[in-house]
Amino acid sequence: MTAGPGQRSDAAEPLLSVEGLTIDLPGGVGQPGLVEDVTFEVRRGQAVALIGESGCGKSLTSMAILGLLPAAVRVAAGSIRFDGVDLLTCRRRELRRIRGGPVGMVFQEPMSSLNPTMTVGDQIAEVRRLHLGERRSVALKQAGQLLSRVGIPNAERRLGSYPHEMSGGMQQRVMIAAAIACDPKLLIADEPTTALDVTIQAEILELLRDLRRDLDLAVLLVTHDLGVVADFCDDVVVMYAGHMAERTPVDRLFYEPRHPYSSALLAAVPQAGRARTSLTVIPGRVPSAGQFPGGCRFEPRCEHSVDDVCRRPQADTTIGDGRRTRCGRVASGDLTLKGTVRG
Ligand SMILES: Nc1ncnc2c1ncn2[C@@H]1O[C@H](COP(=O)(O)OP(=O)(O)OP(=O)(O)O)[C@@H](O)[C@H]1O
Ligand SMILES: [Mg+2]
Repeated sequence: MTAGPGQRSDAAEPLLSVEGLTIDLPGGVGQPGLVEDVTFEVRRGQAVALIGESGCGKSLTSMAILGLLPAAVRVAAGSIRFDGVDLLTCRRRELRRIRGGPVGMVFQEPMSSLNPTMTVGDQIAEVRRLHLGERRSVALKQAGQLLSRVGIPNAERRLGSYPHEMSGGMQQRVMIAAAIACDPKLLIADEPTTALDVTIQAEILELLRDLRRDLDLAVLLVTHDLGVVADFCDDVVVMYAGHMAERTPVDRLFYEPRHPYSSALLAAVPQAGRARTSLTVIPGRVPSAGQFPGGCRFEPRCEHSVDDVCRRPQADTTIGDGRRTRCGRVASGDLTLKGTVRG
């Protein structure tokens, strides 16, 4: 796809750039943001992971990109640019063109996104009819090819199936077929495999990997799974309680995490050769939005916390090598953390 009128498409510019993104509840005057000051980018063809425990703001961050936030919350500050377009200020029509067109989406629960009363063929064809103005017969033919591309056997015959006639893994393939129907540049996938059993998870990831390679697709992948991150992604954004704790190239995260929350997450992953009983679980839990501490949000759970430094708000700081951290101790060189892999 080429840039439309009034748009700038610059190969050197990141495909997606999120800067200072802050999301809050409009009624909660004086409340800190559910997501606050999150900054990252996704370059063309790159895969970036958003990780962190439940409630850290991963879904809100990814939903904000396409203007799909729940009604109760809003973007209070920041900017989101996709391929030369400012997504927070562009017209709704432009956002609708981008959503399902150059940006595809896949969510955790395929059944909550698929329409139970429409055949899967019509659902995929509808995306092409809407975005490309194709006639139903042409769009259905394309839908058959897309189903086959995502690994659904007897694709032509499956066009007439309803979602409930398919397994969870097949439904997720249908969602992916709809997401890539208009040749997107970016796929946003929010825990696309979490609801599936382990073998099917691996198959879906394999499919995403193939599509990434074949379509030169950039991916923003929300996941809980550090194995998936290591395997699939180039960069990682580690989120904690609405803040970006760390941003780093994937390999550096495992060698040398630069935030105590990242190193705690790494330590919590079971590893081959390590007895199951020694699995570390991070003590405590993510605070809920109204109860964020005033200083570092991770401070109450952090084994490296030092009162006079960590009880003050921490700045998101660039520390070289394209990395950022929101830990003042790491940023000042006062704290070095060990990874789980020797570099
Ligand atoms: N509609 C809403 N109204 C109020 N608060 C919300 C709403 N949606 C999310 N939140 C709050 O925003 C925070 C971040 O939620 P989000 O869904 O982004 O977390 P997440 O990192 O995706 O978690 P999970 O891993 O469980 O999917 C949570 O504290 C959540 O309770
Ligand atoms: Mg989520």
